[in-house]
Amino acid sequence: MLRRLHKEQPDSFAFTPDNQAWADAQITKYPEGRQASAIIPLLWRAQEQEGWLTRPAIEGIAEMLGMAYIRALEVASFYFMFQLQPVGSVAHIQICGTTSCMICGAEDLIEVCKRKIAPNPHELSADGKFSWEEVECLGACANAPMAQIGKDYYEDLTAKRVGDLIDMLDKGEVPTPGPQNGRYAAEPLKGLTSLTEYDSGKTQYNASVQLAADIGDTVKRIDGTEVPLLAPWGHAAPTLGGTPVPKPKAAAKPAPKTDAKPKAKPAAKPAAKRTPAKAEAKPAKKPVAKDGKPEMLKKARAGGADDLKMIKGVGPALEKLLNKLGVYHFDQVAGWRKAEVAWVDENLEGFKGRVSRDNWVAQAKTLAKGGSTEFSSRVKKGGVY
Ligand code: FES
Repeated sequence: MLRRLHKEQPDSFAFTPDNQAWADAQITKYPEGRQASAIIPLLWRAQEQEGWLTRPAIEGIAEMLGMAYIRALEVASFYFMFQLQPVGSVAHIQICGTTSCMICGAEDLIEVCKRKIAPNPHELSADGKFSWEEVECLGACANAPMAQIGKDYYEDLTAKRVGDLIDMLDKGEVPTPGPQNGRYAAEPLKGLTSLTEYDSGKTQYNASVQLAADIGDTVKRIDGTEVPLLAPWGHAAPTLGGTPVPKPKAAAKPAPKTDAKPKAKPAAKPAAKRTPAKAEAKPAKKPVAKDGKPEMLKKARAGGADDLKMIKGVGPALEKLLNKLGVYHFDQVAGWRKAEVAWVDENLEGFKGRVSRDNWVAQAKTLAKGGSTEFSSRVKKGGVY
């Protein structure tokens, strides 16, 4: 498939302030001189912001990372995850057309897209809400035929089901991803024939679908309001481990000459503006216990315990366990440092590693200040079960 830049391009690109702060924090993950490693997350963020990946965005990000434009363009044009032309405002549907899916009916699914969306791949539907394309194997061959819609996989599809999915998305609904024929995961159609002892105690959906359902960002674009906004490795930008963040390099050399001048302005801004003021004001803390165990409470303070289930990754069972350990309040979790996170991660029987996996500390910091996260807002609206 020929992947080219779209013939109509905007004049310029700039990250929103939130996305700029996020992008700067991503760059701090990599040692000096290796900033180009941030290319994929930054291109993805630009695509989430704009809906598709424009030439000014690719060039602006190349400048942020000190890369020649052609290097950034190589990455953008190689991966199918990057859309080089406008896509449907609600969803872009990627139908797998490789062997397993083709044998199991991918052509029928494509027919539905042609009929319901537009006759040609990458053509917008009349209302601009949808677009589609055929892609190579997406690695879910045991659940063929399948399609990727937004960030999730819809598997075991039929032509009718694809039509229904499009209708649901059109109405603003987000259908549950995963197998669409009642299968739990990729087990035999007639049910498990081995490892049946693991059948009990299953979550409602398989792990991938459960996570997708919990996050709920299938067709939602990242807009800077997510948690964690900044550095998911536990440091707020623009400092990493207490040391100043290396300033993103400006383009080291002019990019190879092209007939069109780059119009994107460098997205980097003065570091002072990007410093999150709240992260600086930290109250003095007790030293961390030798074994890393955080200070626990015998019971909730007057006024009652916080609803720890507002933290993404904490369900009723985990909340019970946390209370048993002596954790009742958001500010307790918000104050955990690295060793304390490690201690709690290690002592959550059956849920080991959850604290760091879901970055509870960042979430709890927001919740402790009376703020809300994307997840807690959904819980309050009753959108999480
Ligand atoms: S052939 Fe379709 S997912 Fe592999």
